[in-house]
Amino acid sequence: MQNILQHTAFNIVEVREDFPILKTLVNNKPLIYFDNGATAQKPKQVLDVIIKYYTEENSNIHRGVHTLSQKATIHYELAREIVKKHIKASSVNEIIFTRGTTESVNLVAHCFGKLFINKGDEIILSVMEHHSNILPWQILCEERGAVLKVIPINEKGELNLNEYKKLLSAKTKLVSVSHVSNTLGVINDMKEICALAKQKNIPVFIDGAQAIPHMAVDVQDLDCDFYCFSGHKVYAPTGIGVLYAKEKWIEIFKPYQVGGGTIKTVSFEKTEYADGPLKFEAGTPNIEGAIGLAAALNYINEIGLETISAYEHELTQYATQKLKQLTNVIIYGDVANKASVISFNVKGIHPFDVGTLLDKQGIAVRTGHHCTQPLMQYFNIPGTIRASFAFYNTKEEIDVFILGLEKAIKMLS
Ligand code: ALA
Repeated sequence: MQNILQHTAFNIVEVREDFPILKTLVNNKPLIYFDNGATAQKPKQVLDVIIKYYTEENSNIHRGVHTLSQKATIHYELAREIVKKHIKASSVNEIIFTRGTTESVNLVAHCFGKLFINKGDEIILSVMEHHSNILPWQILCEERGAVLKVIPINEKGELNLNEYKKLLSAKTKLVSVSHVSNTLGVINDMKEICALAKQKNIPVFIDGAQAIPHMAVDVQDLDCDFYCFSGHKVYAPTGIGVLYAKEKWIEIFKPYQVGGGTIKTVSFEKTEYADGPLKFEAGTPNIEGAIGLAAALNYINEIGLETISAYEHELTQYATQKLKQLTNVIIYGDVANKASVISFNVKGIHPFDVGTLLDKQGIAVRTGHHCTQPLMQYFNIPGTIRASFAFYNTKEEIDVFILGLEKAIKMLS
């Protein structure tokens, strides 16, 4: 660990102490967790606030005059404020709590689609999208007789922005692209994508699920209309997520789901819905999730996203160099501008077999199509092995992973 301490602006030993699960043994080997793209581990600062909430404050929000209800409401709304600051939104009214990225995409596809998508309209996605950022738009297009248009990539996995420009037309009603590819780690130039769409007054939705854990995001600087992410990939619990929407959309959209919490007044003749994000948060929300998310964002901000990005970049470069020294390893998305995700295959060996043998050595990687089958079709492969790093990972773990991989390759060749 000493080497890493000298190279980084934070104390990796202390940071690892914050994540109790990292002490787990898997198959009698110390866990090496390289599946952070799927979900990240939770620091005790997040676990502690959840226990505190249930031990001292558990109550329903926005409903009671009693002390616990007011405390819970204050903490839930404070979480909204922390999210707002984190992504630099201009108002808390632009922050909707959802169950995660998937629900956020579904919400916008539903609300935007109902109002603005008609026969012959076009929605632009990219070939590297996660299924969650394809299927809601695909269903919408099927229902409305609209058409999906797809931005192609080059063989390195970068979006072809010239082709994107050609796709933008009077028929385009929305562009929806991921900030960072979950499979390749490639960071897309969302500022340029938004600027080009803006020239034609086309709104842009950004799937930020894989960006938020790794980099600072400023929704006003990006000038996107929508931005979403999941809590669990950014060290918070599962079942909580965020949809940022410019206030004008929040005002125009009708509720996505309706129920308690979404209304001002109800009668059998007419219902008046709440203003702002509450209109979209039907039912008792995931209160501890929101509070846990706020704790997670506070935690990473204490380390600093620049520090996190720089350290994770160092890990990714280190692992990429090591992988390149192995024969028969093919890396997908081997570009400079990427988050800490490496997708690769070993010629002649199925990714599942490699993943299974790595697990026997306590090493968790993800194998398969990573919910990006169109991307797999582009590369003409069934899947990849994906190692995705967080700031609690170390070069020493990468060394063990490379040795484990060599062992697996030997056994499977
Ligand atoms: N979307 C998650 C992943 O990329 C599950 O692994």
